Amino acid sequence: MTNDDLSQIMETSDEWISSRTGIRRRHIVRDENTSDLASNVAQQLLKKASLAAEDLDFIIVATVSPDGNMPSTASLVQAKIGASKAFAFDLTAACSGFVYALSVADKLIASGAYHNGIVIGAEVLSKIVDWSDRSTSVLFGDGAGGVLLQASSDTPLILAESLKSDGNRGMSLTSNLTHANSPFSKSESEDDLFLKMDGRAIFDFAVRDVPKNILESLEKAELSPDDIDYLLLHQANSRILDKMARKIKTERHKFLQNMQEYGNTSAASIPILLSEAVDAGTFKLDGSQKLVLTGFGGGLTWGTLVVKI
Ligand code: ACO
Repeated sequence: MTNDDLSQIMETSDEWISSRTGIRRRHIVRDENTSDLASNVAQQLLKKASLAAEDLDFIIVATVSPDGNMPSTASLVQAKIGASKAFAFDLTAACSGFVYALSVADKLIASGAYHNGIVIGAEVLSKIVDWSDRSTSVLFGDGAGGVLLQASSDTPLILAESLKSDGNRGMSLTSNLTHANSPFSKSESEDDLFLKMDGRAIFDFAVRDVPKNILESLEKAELSPDDIDYLLLHQANSRILDKMARKIKTERHKFLQNMQEYGNTSAASIPILLSEAVDAGTFKLDGSQKLVLTGFGGGLTWGTLVVKI
């Protein structure tokens, strides 16, 4: 759905959206749910890796737009693809979800207890945005992407990491807020199910806290920004990426960008970027390239993995 398509259903314009965010299009599901997108990703990953669904030890789905709380979206994926031996759970860390989930999956495999796992970021944000609010609804899109991890005796995938949360600032980005509701409750608070955002506060958080986190992670890995081939940051807004590039003194072209095509897909944005770069041959997957993967968003949460692929 293009910005012009949106201007048919609300008071907005391509000029307003693209100049402030870099977003030109987003994909919106008609009837599919988050588990449908995630199952599709899982099937593609198994095919690419020539593995059977029964070979999987675990499935983690990072999402803030699950089909429901129970069963988890990961459990639905497990059933849909027939991964009978896998345990499955969702992880909620908003736009940092994929980075958090990849860190958790890496530890599960490094423990030696599990060999094959899938980590998916999947969102149908179109069902949680308030379509009567033009200041948020134009920003988001639906999508899914993922990776399949296998145990290996080679160099570790993650060279360094730094994951952060600050619940004190959590109310600047919210969705699905519910309150006590029983015969014993005196609460008169209304539930607030739609996604709500203080755009300025999130912009300031992203450009202030996230560059520090990237630099701290690089320092842990004893690397400088020049040693990094590409940076894959959560795709919220191209102006945020412009500022990041200046703050960490790295050429802007190393920051991969596809929000012009997908909008902000929360936990799905980094794996979609990763997958497109693999398909385009930008990433060779031969252990010769170093990447920075950085998520930031609701919670507030943020975090960076420095990886070798
Ligand atoms: N079309 C046209 N006009 C609009 C639209 C729209 N879709 N939305 C808002 N406006 C109007 C507002 O009503 C306001 O009008 P007014 O001045 O007459 O009151 C005007 O545009 C300016 O609105 P602001 O909210 O001040 O716009 P701002 O320049 O701050 O840009 C934006 C908003 C793009 C969201 C910015 O705050 C931003 O980039 N924030 C970063 C947060 C972000 O990207 N969040 C994504 C989710 S969070 C995450 O993924 C980490």
